[in-house]
Amino acid sequence: MKFTLTALALPLLATAAPAPPANPPFTVMAARSASPIHYLQLNAAGQKFWLGGTTASYCPSQVKDCPAGNQTVFAPGGTSMDTEVPGGQQVYIDPNGALSFTQAHSANIPAGSSYGPFVYEAGEPWSHYFYRGWGASGFMACPTEDNRWQVFGALANATVPKGDVNECLGFSAMAITYEGDVPAWQYI
Ligand SMILES: *[C@@H]1O[C@H](CO)[C@@H](O)[C@H](O)[C@H]1NC(C)=O
Ligand SMILES: *[C@@H]1O[C@H](CO)[C@@H](O)[C@H](O)[C@H]1NC(C)=O
Repeated sequence: MKFTLTALALPLLATAAPAPPANPPFTVMAARSASPIHYLQLNAAGQKFWLGGTTASYCPSQVKDCPAGNQTVFAPGGTSMDTEVPGGQQVYIDPNGALSFTQAHSANIPAGSSYGPFVYEAGEPWSHYFYRGWGASGFMACPTEDNRWQVFGALANATVPKGDVNECLGFSAMAITYEGDVPAWQYI
């Protein structure tokens, strides 16, 4: 993982490189040193988000040239996902405090959810992604019964998988610019 980060940082440090777009699509990597979540990639699956694991996506067979759908990418600004599906997929915090995204072809968001604000802050060498609704200053990852890390807004009153919010780890969400074609038809 250290190697990966070094490789990613190099183009940013090269002065000859063209300036990156001010508001690009981005992937997220967690930073919390000396913890099991340090440098884990954020992945969308089951309408929620996880650190580690794999991205869950779908592309109908009638779509020509389906994207690989194996990377979780936020659209510029981080309020929706970077997908091709008509209507898009919105990002929100559900009433439990869990970072969530809407199902394709549905604008349904449960009552009592938070619509943000979600904030993208450009920076050198790292840009960052924040959730600043409900008085939160960012995100936390909470352990699950099946040994995964689920992503929540950093909220003291979140309803977390194992019941104890003190087991959650706050982390810094490093936003890494995504370049290339739209990465997924839809996340599932
Ligand atoms: C995603 O899938 C493509 C095509 O199979 C592959 O080339 C690429 O390495 C994969 N990327 C990741 C991040 O897994
Ligand atoms: C959690 O706390 C925030 C900040 O006090 C509040 O706005 C929000 O409504 C609370 N959420 C729940 C589900 O109680």
